[in-house]
Amino acid sequence: MQKRFFLLFLLALLCTAASSQGMWIPSLLEKQNEKEMKALGLKLSADDIYAPAHSSIKDAICQFDGGCTGEMISPEGLLLTNHHCGFDAIQQLSTLENNFVENGYWAKNRSSELPAEGVTAMFVSRIEDVTLVVLQGITDGMAERERQSQIDKNIASLKSSTKKEKWEDIEVRPFYNGNQYYMFITQTFKDVRFVGAPPSSIGKFGADTDNWVWPRHTGDFSIFRVYADKDNHPAAYSKDNKPYQPGHFLPISLDGADEGDFSMVYGFPGATNEYLTEAAIRQTGEVLDPARVAIRDRALKVMDGFMRKDPAVKISYVARYASIANAWKKWLGEMQGLKTYKAFDKKAAYEAEFTKRIQQNPDWNTRYKNLLPRLRQLYKDIEPYALGRDYYLETMIRNNEILGTVSGLGSWINGYDPKNETEFVNKMSRVKAGLEGFYEDYHPQVDEAVLAAMMEMYGENARAEWGAADVKKMAGEAGGYAKLAKNIFEQSVFAQKSKIMTILETKKPAEVAEALRNDPAFKLWDKLQGYYNTQIQGKLQELQPQINLLQRQYMAAQMEVFKEKKFFPDANSTLRLTYGKIKGFSPKDAVQYEFQTDLDGVMEKYIPGDYEFDVPQKLIDLWKTKDYGQYATADGRMPVACIGTNHTTGGNSGSPALDANGNLIGLNFDRVWEGTMSDLNYDPAICRNIMVDSRYILFIVDKYGGAGYLLNEMKLVKGKKKKKK
Ligand code: ARG
Ligand code: ASP
Repeated sequence: MQKRFFLLFLLALLCTAASSQGMWIPSLLEKQNEKEMKALGLKLSADDIYAPAHSSIKDAICQFDGGCTGEMISPEGLLLTNHHCGFDAIQQLSTLENNFVENGYWAKNRSSELPAEGVTAMFVSRIEDVTLVVLQGITDGMAERERQSQIDKNIASLKSSTKKEKWEDIEVRPFYNGNQYYMFITQTFKDVRFVGAPPSSIGKFGADTDNWVWPRHTGDFSIFRVYADKDNHPAAYSKDNKPYQPGHFLPISLDGADEGDFSMVYGFPGATNEYLTEAAIRQTGEVLDPARVAIRDRALKVMDGFMRKDPAVKISYVARYASIANAWKKWLGEMQGLKTYKAFDKKAAYEAEFTKRIQQNPDWNTRYKNLLPRLRQLYKDIEPYALGRDYYLETMIRNNEILGTVSGLGSWINGYDPKNETEFVNKMSRVKAGLEGFYEDYHPQVDEAVLAAMMEMYGENARAEWGAADVKKMAGEAGGYAKLAKNIFEQSVFAQKSKIMTILETKKPAEVAEALRNDPAFKLWDKLQGYYNTQIQGKLQELQPQINLLQRQYMAAQMEVFKEKKFFPDANSTLRLTYGKIKGFSPKDAVQYEFQTDLDGVMEKYIPGDYEFDVPQKLIDLWKTKDYGQYATADGRMPVACIGTNHTTGGNSGSPALDANGNLIGLNFDRVWEGTMSDLNYDPAICRNIMVDSRYILFIVDKYGGAGYLLNEMKLVKGKKKKKK
């Protein structure tokens, strides 16, 4: 047994050593990565990629709209990101007559670029390691609360003493589970305008069926432009604003990527957890993921049934469905991948080696011997509550709309105070505006059926003392979950916009509060959140900080005990660089995935009239005549997407994939099915990121969209590299 573990461990170590996994801090590349990157093929220096004082590639990279990445592709602020990242903005700008989601859009000139209200683009001016300052006065024996308040104080004084321009912001973030801190000076542009996108039949081709899957054929891109004030600084929208002139913009490669080529992805990965214990990832893979997947399975099936019957429902629910399905599918892939690729054994072997090493060092042994056993115990302790949290959130908040909406208004409704009505009244217009948006795409008959399914999941599977017994009893009295949902929908004012709006508009504040507090949807949510607060949340608040503390210590211990290993910090929505090679993979015996798809594959998947796999006629015509212009491969094909060994996660969508010279060869948008476990267990043999080929983007803009004039402001490069395979 010992021996088997050790062999496994060696294997794992070898894999890590041979790979380039990790999401690295751009300001540390020279010290940590430059050598390896050059060995892999990089032709640039670390300084070309990140420099605080002069222009570098980082000046082309921004966080798009808070959750995605975007990049500058012209000296005039042209921004490239994914179609699914721009989707909300595109949808909001669409009308029935001008349906940009359906038909795409190409602004013919600057004045037809459409202000995308609320969309932001955040650039990083510089990054500084501020660990020493932030952890000043922190001692080992400090209680967690005391530690945090000292840290908060240190951060506040650091912020006030740091020099920055008026238009810049400062953010300080923990790294390595709070063992290190970095400061980011940023600037956020708020005047961002929609320039163009292909129709969904290209930008979303394959939709949910193909999501998280390779081989892929989605042209997942959209184009915006960042505007600045007359001094090139961020400003609110104004018609007098000018296109932003970035410190750097990315040349776009007409050569694309070949198998084995160096590639790097620069962007804002959201969250990973690569250094957890076996107990932790087992809980996610064997307990939490299966529960969440089962709940969403039910919700999605109900929605799908209605969407297939009624086109109006489909239009209203595609975006909601896609977003619920996206996480559902990711969790499913994650739980399967962890199991198939032996993530638990690998962690166990790693922990066995950790334990062996600390036992050989008396100092380590005293400091670290309790870490793993205590973490194991704490994960056991927290498990029922973590499951309870997911049950509550998934069934009562996230997957049905009426309770989700009611919960969002919960503190407003419960907070009504007859002695101080002004606060309640002041919030009224915000509440109304929120509800206006909510009812735009609301179909109560769909939501009623979803609510019935969600109450059943809760009533039958959650713990009795968390309110499941109450829900079950209510269903019993009503004559079943469907009947219970029906009663709620018949009586709740939230089921119909006119009912709730009439109350808000005609009643006195006291009457509004009274009516809403007695509403059956509100009462159901209020009852369950009461259980959640008393039975679940308190326990989580007691146990989670203990886990966080031990995880912080375990992180530091791993870095000390495995000195020979290079540790990258887990993703935390800050700017990172990841690098690797363009490369296919073999998910199982006798199956080999190639690294690239092409337009022939789009036509193989083509299902006329289907909402996921329809293909626009013009694209079919271009394919028939092979009218690919300068964008074809040397052998006359039109490449669509490719995969590589770049270590990415959610948030990396829209990130540029760059070649050895810093030219854009692809646009990151997804990961392969077998590798969706990568947030917990990055396996370089299996995990791949998926990118749209730069040539497909240019081809669609130029030949399909007829917006070739946009290419005039870009820099297209060709013939930089031609290397033997
Ligand atoms: N799976 C990708 C990501 O996590 C793409 C999601 C958008 N596409 C979709 N069909 N929902 O964001
Ligand atoms: N599709 C993801 C995103 O939107 C990327 C990923 O999870 O690989 O950021």
